[in-house]
Amino acid sequence: MEIIIQPTANAASVIAARLIARQVREKPDSVLGLATGSTPIATYQELIRLHREEGLDFSRVTTFNLDEYVGLQAEHPASYHAFMDLQLFSHINIPRERIHIPDGMAADVPAECARFEAAIRAAGGIDLQLLGIGSDGHIGFNEPSSSLASRTRIKTLTERTRADNVYNFGGDFAKMPLHCITMGVGTIMETRAVLLLAFGAGKAQAVAEAVEGPITAMNPASILQMHPVAKCLMDEPAAARLKKCEYYRWVFDNKPQWQRV
Ligand code: PGA
Repeated sequence: MEIIIQPTANAASVIAARLIARQVREKPDSVLGLATGSTPIATYQELIRLHREEGLDFSRVTTFNLDEYVGLQAEHPASYHAFMDLQLFSHINIPRERIHIPDGMAADVPAECARFEAAIRAAGGIDLQLLGIGSDGHIGFNEPSSSLASRTRIKTLTERTRADNVYNFGGDFAKMPLHCITMGVGTIMETRAVLLLAFGAGKAQAVAEAVEGPITAMNPASILQMHPVAKCLMDEPAAARLKKCEYYRWVFDNKPQWQRV
């Protein structure tokens, strides 16, 4: 795992966007795994800027989103379909047919999950997966105790995650779904590269456990220690509980020129 600590969330987001842009420039038909939540918004803004000002071309890119709430129409403002449209897709030149987000309205949820997994396989697998981390260590909506070999499936949101995200539903728990469809931990582990973003003091404990703790289903992000190409980009508050900060900074500052972002 490569740990990159930046002074601000914005500085880390610019690096994340550059890494994604590099992936798309090197392989114009890249398959990107995308995330929602407050964390990736600044990265998406920088990608939009790169598209508008530097011609970053998404016309051959395929995307798969990590998750979606069960029972929300795509048009619902709190759905991840709506989020992705608002924060990224409506601002770049990605063809609609190349966008894949689990269908939270599917009548047959297991069939929808199998369809989603098959679509990832048919696209040739995910080249680069963007991830946030929950304050409980979740990736996607793989909450603590999720099987580390799990595939796309239905999950029940924890009370903590519901509390973290209820702001999207006007603070009203009654309006918030209890379930979601999420890519599994095993699905995420098959991606060729992972970029995990973590910002703010609220993520510090989850990050410390994921990076320096033992691998455990109680912090699903900790399995990324077994991913062959995982970068973890964070701001100072999110890094506050890491023990080896100085070491991570030294490694980042002394990268060979060809590895620099
Ligand atoms: P957040 O959520 O970006 O809204 O903090 C991250 C996550 O739940 O993965």
